[in-house]
Amino acid sequence: MEKLRIVGGTKLNGSIEISGAKNAALPILFATILSKQKSKVRNVPLLADINTTLKVLDSLGLTTLFKLSDHCIEVDGSTLTSIEAPYELVRTMRASVLVLGPLLGRFGEAKVSLPGGCAIGARPVDFHLSALEALGAEFKLEGGYIHGFAKSGLKGAVMKLPFPSVGATENALMAATLAKGNSRIENAACEPEIVDLAKSLRSMGAKIKGEGTSTIEIEGVSELNGMDHSVAPDRVEAATFLCAGLITKGKVTVTGINEYYLSSALKVLNDMGAKITADNDSVTAEYVGELKAVTIETLPFPGFPTDMQAQFMSLLTIAKGTSAITETIFENRFMHVPELNRLGARIRIQGNQAFVDGESKLAGAIVMATDLRASASLIIAGLAASGETNIRRIYHLDRGYEHIEKKLSSLGAKIYREFEK
Ligand code: UD1
Repeated sequence: MEKLRIVGGTKLNGSIEISGAKNAALPILFATILSKQKSKVRNVPLLADINTTLKVLDSLGLTTLFKLSDHCIEVDGSTLTSIEAPYELVRTMRASVLVLGPLLGRFGEAKVSLPGGCAIGARPVDFHLSALEALGAEFKLEGGYIHGFAKSGLKGAVMKLPFPSVGATENALMAATLAKGNSRIENAACEPEIVDLAKSLRSMGAKIKGEGTSTIEIEGVSELNGMDHSVAPDRVEAATFLCAGLITKGKVTVTGINEYYLSSALKVLNDMGAKITADNDSVTAEYVGELKAVTIETLPFPGFPTDMQAQFMSLLTIAKGTSAITETIFENRFMHVPELNRLGARIRIQGNQAFVDGESKLAGAIVMATDLRASASLIIAGLAASGETNIRRIYHLDRGYEHIEKKLSSLGAKIYREFEK
């Protein structure tokens, strides 16, 4: 098994190009199912979750080709032979449930293993199913699989989501593009990844209005063309590098991204006392003096993203004062806390709140990554800790960060991927 070894205490400085967003690339790759034609998806990050997505598409019979040099994936929609996403793949990546909308839209039938719980919470798919039911789909649970049918095709409808779920909005949006008539998604998620998915669908000929707001209108069409789309930048990766730079008292610029993607994160960094500068294609965070404690509450976009909570918690361990972080999206997303405390942080959990006492003197230790963003928080803390930090179970990290150790090394970090002895 591989681990990361970090020798902390080096100031990070410089500029880093942000990769395409994992959470945009996944639904966009699943959206290629909607067309019989060939699609090209560009700026796809090189990640374990993308490999799993390609395996899901392959298992449906689609021909896929990943051109590593330009991060481009070509999908031939004409070769689809199966409507089933198997357990072994859904088990490793629950976003595989995003095949439901496109398969029901194109074929009126889909079968996907019911995702189990995951490390950060129960994460059911009831909102996905009720939105698709509004379009006329019926579901049965058979041997652990959700089997969906729409015998006479999907019909446009109003889908009101009980919560602006990102995945449910994506499934509903993809399915509605090929439904007969008009649809509306109310209380839709507004995340930039939804906007990017809508843009990719529009490049296929879909008729969509209102993405990025809580009401999305879709006029169904009978067929979609292939897409040629370049994936939007990864705001979570960008925020991770900005936090990494600040915890080392350095100055890091992320390029290929702008304030729209990072507004709530930048507001928090600004409140903490970091110097933020931004233009159309880059954002810089510079340490210009002691950082201050803040209050954070995770919320759907444009609120503070749950996917950045762990990384900001690490940064707050060095701020002056006690910070309060409330996690409102997932019920079990503080698993990084005991590991950060092993590095010398002083964090207490009370229900869905974590209180971070600042000005901690972090010191290297062996720590265990528990999920994707928790892994990133341990790296950030390790960069500021004295001595050596060894992070185990980094396979979580490879699900969501492309070559993170190489990118951090280019900013001056001493971080090494090694085999555990
Ligand atoms: C997506 C992101 C994930 C991010 C999350 C919230 C991808 C691949 N993943 O996950 O990184 O942390 O958005 O921004 O894009 N819920 C239900 N029933 C449902 C659906 C969701 O109860 O049918 C609940 C979930 O358990 C969770 C909350 O709603 O508590 C938000 O989940 P959702 O927005 O759907 O997250 P994902 O799409 O799974």
